[in-house]
Amino acid sequence: MRKTQVGIIGAGPAGLMLAHLLQRRGIESIVLESRTRKEIEGTIRAGVLEQGTVDLMNETGVGDRLMREGHFHHGIELRFNRKGHRINMHELTGGKNVTVYAQHEVIKDLVAARLNQGGEILFNVGDVSLHDVDTDSPKIRFRPDKDGEVQEIECDYIAGCDGFHGPSRPAIPASVRKEYDTVLPYGWLGILIEAPPSAPELIYTNHPRGFALVSTRSAEIQRLYIQVDPKDEIANWSDDRIWTELHARTETEDGWTLIEGPIIQKGIVSMRSFVCDPLQYGRLFLAGDAAHIVPPTGAKGLNLAVADVQVLARAFSHVYQTGDDTLLQSYSSTCLRRVWKAERFSWYMTSMLHRKAEQSPFEQQIQLAELDYVTSSEAASKSLAENYVGLPMEYEEMSGKISVNI
Ligand code: APR
Ligand code: PHB
Repeated sequence: MRKTQVGIIGAGPAGLMLAHLLQRRGIESIVLESRTRKEIEGTIRAGVLEQGTVDLMNETGVGDRLMREGHFHHGIELRFNRKGHRINMHELTGGKNVTVYAQHEVIKDLVAARLNQGGEILFNVGDVSLHDVDTDSPKIRFRPDKDGEVQEIECDYIAGCDGFHGPSRPAIPASVRKEYDTVLPYGWLGILIEAPPSAPELIYTNHPRGFALVSTRSAEIQRLYIQVDPKDEIANWSDDRIWTELHARTETEDGWTLIEGPIIQKGIVSMRSFVCDPLQYGRLFLAGDAAHIVPPTGAKGLNLAVADVQVLARAFSHVYQTGDDTLLQSYSSTCLRRVWKAERFSWYMTSMLHRKAEQSPFEQQIQLAELDYVTSSEAASKSLAENYVGLPMEYEEMSGKISVNI
């Protein structure tokens, strides 16, 4: 039977960043991933990095390509009543930026770093299951290449970084786990197009026909979204229909218009808000989407995953250095404080910008008043900005008695 210190299930941002942080600390881990390297490096997801995520990537030696190819924006635009209103994040947060760099590029950088340093990622594994998580020697069983002989890895700890549908969360008994779950009545139809950017910064639009978002990927590729019914099917959306909606929702009274280009990818995603409490059971620790989901409007998903594993890596580091597991025991409560604030912010951005199918005229006016307030009051803009660029990391350490560097 193989042994490792930390068995990591899932090679998304959470699992790969955790493996990277542990490797820097001399803690051994094995990452098990059910998809192939090609699949994880090619899946289109969101693309906004908080300042703290960018700083962490730079400080830990995986930020070179990000600094060369990322787009560093000083603000975002909120658009409503056919007018644009800029929120200057840089000024409002004392110099922090909004960085646009696709999630799969982060994945490529972390996979390359891991493999270059001789770390292990087992891709394309099947039938992953967790055992004895409430004992001192938890185990992971899996089949290499999906159909090989079942193998077992004995671990000191297991990190469940396997996304919303993975096997880690269900390994916490239902009687111990409380789940907060809200399925939102909105879907996002997302497209990638070949065209130059239509605007220098991201545009979030509230429009009577529904939300729209103008984002970017590079000088040649743009990412655009429109709110649709989450049950709708992509087959109902011809390119012409998508463009008609996008134009109608984003045009301004001063004649701003979107630059079109060939649509190279399209799909619809539904959205939910979800939190599991606690994030720990015995020697199993959940991180990222395995533990919580946010709707994408606040661009928090990847950043929350990275924040979780920063806390977890410090806690593992501390226990291996000192034998004291205080930080591991407070992992769940430390993370949940930040998670709930990100849930609140993502819910706030989503409710402010989307139109419900049966929205009353009163609710519409309240939404517009909120947008007017947040774009005209410095206090309100500042609050939005500090949440958007990322709240500070909070560590629940016993005042000064524990100090851990990453
Ligand atoms: N065994 C091994 N790996 C698994 C299993 C399994 N049974 N089930 C899922 N996985 C893998 C998935 O294939 C995926 O690569 O776990 C990984 C989880 O990655 P993500 O879903 O990206 O989750 P996370 O790392 O927490 O990152 C959160 O990713 O989903 C986006 O929008 C989300 O931005 C957020 C971020
Ligand atoms: C994206 O570019 O994919 C993106 C940007 C901002 C969001 C969500 C997604 O809030």
